[in-house]
Formats: sequence, C-alpha cells, structure tokens
Amino acid sequence: MFHAQILTLFPEFFDSPLSCSIPKRAIEAGLARVDCIQMRDFATDRHRTVDDAPYGGGPGMVLKPEPVVAAIREARRRHADTRVVMLTPGGRRFTQDVALEYAASPGVTLLCGRYEGFDERICDYVDEQLSLGDYVLSGGEPAALCVLDAVIRLLPGVLGSPESAVLDSFTEEGILDWPHYTRPEVFEGKRVPQVLLSGNHAEIERWRREQARLRSEARRRLCEKAREETRKGAQKKDSGQGD
Ligand code: ADE
Repeated sequence: MFHAQILTLFPEFFDSPLSCSIPKRAIEAGLARVDCIQMRDFATDRHRTVDDAPYGGGPGMVLKPEPVVAAIREARRRHADTRVVMLTPGGRRFTQDVALEYAASPGVTLLCGRYEGFDERICDYVDEQLSLGDYVLSGGEPAALCVLDAVIRLLPGVLGSPESAVLDSFTEEGILDWPHYTRPEVFEGKRVPQVLLSGNHAEIERWRREQARLRSEARRRLCEKAREETRKGAQKKDSGQGD
C-alpha cells in the first residue's frame, strides 16, 4: 500500500479534501494510507514553540530546526523507505512525471512550511525540495494536497485499469487529454463534433489523438510566449526601463 505522511502544523486542512471522491475511495479500498504528523508535538518547551524571529532581522517568523527535524525523524522511523519532500517555491517543479515517479515509490513524506519559511539547515534533512509553481502560497499544505491528489489517482487500481492505461500512454508523451462532450448534442447553438456521433471507433480514436496533439502544441506555444515575455520584462527592469 502506498503511504503518504504529511508533516504539518494544520492537520485539519486535509480532513475534508481526503474524505471525498477519489482520494476517499483509494484510502477506503486500502490502496493508499495518509497520516498527518503534527510538528508542534515535537516542540519541547512549555509553549510548544515551532517558529522564531529571523537572525539578521526582517519580517515574519521562521520554522525552527529542532521540532521540524524531530518530526522528520519520526516520519523516517515510521517508514524507513519514505522519501521526504519539502514543499517550497524554490524546489523542483512538480509535474505529471514527478507524480508518476512518486506513485511508483513506496511512499512520500510531505513537509509543509508556514510563515516566512524554514530554517535553511532543515534542507539537509530532506531528500528533495518541490514547488508547485512560480507563486508563493501561504503554506505548503495546498501544495501537498495537489501532490497527494495527483499521485493517488495514479496508484494501480484507483481509477480502474482501462482508464489508467489510456492515461498512462498519454502522460508518457506529455500530451494533454482530448476534448470531451456529453448530452445534449446542441447546447446554445454549439454542436458536438460530428465524428463523435458517427459510431466509427477508428475515426474517433484518430480524431481524439489529433485533438490532444493540437492542444498540447498550443499549450507549449503559450508557455514559450509567457517565458519569452518574462525574460523581456526582466531585461527591461535590469536596464532601468521598467517601472
Ligand atoms: N509553499 C509556498 N509556496 C509554495 C509553492 N509554490 N510550491 C510549494 N510549496 C510552497
């Protein structure tokens, strides 16, 4: 069974998302197990302190190394084969490939930060750092939830074999899904593509693959354009033309 552990100060964050739909079914079927570990339980002082002001000054609070590292050690004690992943905007980008990699492993431990971030020395105790994208969340919890959801649905038996087989062949190529339609045949003047009503399965398969390819290419172009614009913006700022 795939085991996920979440090191967090807010275990209640995960209650409702994990108790509906696919994650719920996977957990109930014994295909995945998710345990939260409250990092505050590893604080040793009377006030159960987990954060402190940054050395050198500046705003916000920093997660202290002692309780966080003690919680990581507890996670490793419970599952010696776990991979400890720190969620942070500076980490490796989370993609479908990473989700596949995690789903093929015995389990992961997701370390969620809060406040200004982690004491830098904590990085020495994790196996990798992971980012959901180039934006800053108020904590690692929403990121951990996305990772969990993406991984759980890839576990064998969770989606049922026919769907997952199809999904895997497409994720390998890094291709987006094709467009889907259901009844009615015409909605506010917009028709379902004729080919899907034809009953010709070979034609439908060809059309779907082509649509998926076109979508993926369009997305790739969009990403390249966005990257180019970011680069241009940065150059402008460097040369003092920006605002
Ligand atoms: N914590 C805060 N922002 C994050 C992000 N973008 N990805 C992962 N963890 C985060």
